[in-house]
This record gives sequence, structure tokens and C-alpha cells, in this order.
Amino acid sequence: MKTTIQTIQCKKNQEKITAITAYDSLFASLFDTQVDIILIGDSLNMSFGGKKDTLSITLEEMIYHTKAVCRGAKKSFIITDMPFGTYATPKTAVKNALKIYQKTNADAIKIEGGQQRCKTISSIVQEGIAVVAHIGLMPQFVRSEGGYKIKGKNDTEAKILLEDAMILQEAGACMIVLEGIRSDVAACISKNLHIPTIGIGSGLQCDGQILVWSDLFGFFQQFKPKFVRQYLNGAELIQEALQKYIFDIKSSQFPSMEESY
Ligand code: KIV
Repeated sequence: MKTTIQTIQCKKNQEKITAITAYDSLFASLFDTQVDIILIGDSLNMSFGGKKDTLSITLEEMIYHTKAVCRGAKKSFIITDMPFGTYATPKTAVKNALKIYQKTNADAIKIEGGQQRCKTISSIVQEGIAVVAHIGLMPQFVRSEGGYKIKGKNDTEAKILLEDAMILQEAGACMIVLEGIRSDVAACISKNLHIPTIGIGSGLQCDGQILVWSDLFGFFQQFKPKFVRQYLNGAELIQEALQKYIFDIKSSQFPSMEESY
């Protein structure tokens, strides 16, 4: 049965919500039925596209990857990121969110930002589109903030984050991603909201957790953030297998008779 926003929301205070990113149909089909949520994160611009940040991805590229993921995943709840610059005003945001909903089977869209997104979120929700908010460390703000900054480090920041979360919930967000927020602050936000929080680098007390798939499976080797737990040595396994393949070709051991017509 398809996972809906109601299924996810019912899990709050009952069981942890599981989420992972995916950018293509193949991996989405491997994750589907196992995780509650698949996010087509704009992180794909970095881990898939090799770019230095998420800022340059286009709406068309997100739509392309979202369509691919939706073809592979029939059960999980699918969220897709609105790229940087595509929700600068409520009017643009509605136009672009409608485009995503019309062209893909995404169940919700995600946008970064605090209480300044209040009107944007309510305008999109009014059109019948589910919106996931994203606060704390917001990768789309990397240039304006001069780097990736952990949030909630002092009382003022903690107060603003809680206020942001409450206002975004009020505006109609169905879920909130809490990224790079001090654990006790994320715990307090999660406790005070009736909608679920999905944490990344924000401690154990969030209602669910998400990781970028290439970090989780050890395919991204340049940098491993503190909050990533690596469940597979993906890069090593691929490279070992590739070495064997190259060896077999060069030593004329591949293909065998059984592998030939
Ligand atoms: O782009 C992304 O993958 C994300 C997650 C890290 C939450 O926004």
C-alpha cells in the first residue's frame, strides 16, 4: 500500500520514520518498500553531478530525477527539493511547485528557510500541494552564510529555530527537516510540534532520520561528516570488483564459454 502523508504523520510519537535520498529509478526501486520516505534531494547536484554546492541545479533537472525515482518507487512517500531560486516569491513558488506536481508523481515538495517562507508555504499548500519545510543548516544558504554552519548553538539561535518551526507548521508544512541542529534544540522542536521532524545531523530525538544514500553506503569518499554512519564500504567494494573485471578481461578469463553465444 502506498505510504501517504497520513501514514507518516501517524508515526509521530509511535515509531521512528525512516528516510533516504535517491536520484534514479534503480536505487529508488532498491529502497522502496523498505523506507517510509525517499527524497530527491538537490544534494544530487554534488554527489551525482560533481558540483561544489547545490545552488546550480535547475527545476528541469529535478523534474527529470524525480520522474526517474517515481518510476522506481511505488510505495514510499516521495519528496522532491525545489531548487535554489525557484521559490524566491510566493508567486514563483506556486508556479514551480505546480509544475513539479503536474510533471511528476512526487507526493510533496521541500523548501529551505525559516519564518520568511511562511507566505510561500501557505500559498503552495492552498493549491493542494504538500510542503516539507527545512530549517537549521540549509545548504542553499552556503554562500550567503559563508559555509555550512551548525545551528542552535546559543539561546538566541535556539529560540529562533523553535519559533521558525512553529510558524512553518502553522503555515501548513506537513513535516520539517531539521539539519545540523544541536541535539537538545532539535529535541525541543520535535516535542513542541504536532507534525513530524526528520533529522539529519540533529540527534536522536527527531521523529525520523534521513541520510544521503551515497554517504550512507560509503560511495562518497572526499569527506565524511560527523553525523554520517557508513553502513557499507561501497567505493571500496566497487573498486575491488572493477579490478577483478579488468584483470579478467586482460587475462582473457572473461567472457567464458558460458558467457558467450
Ligand atoms: O538535498 C538533500 O539531500 C537534503 C537532505 C540532506 C535532507 O536536503
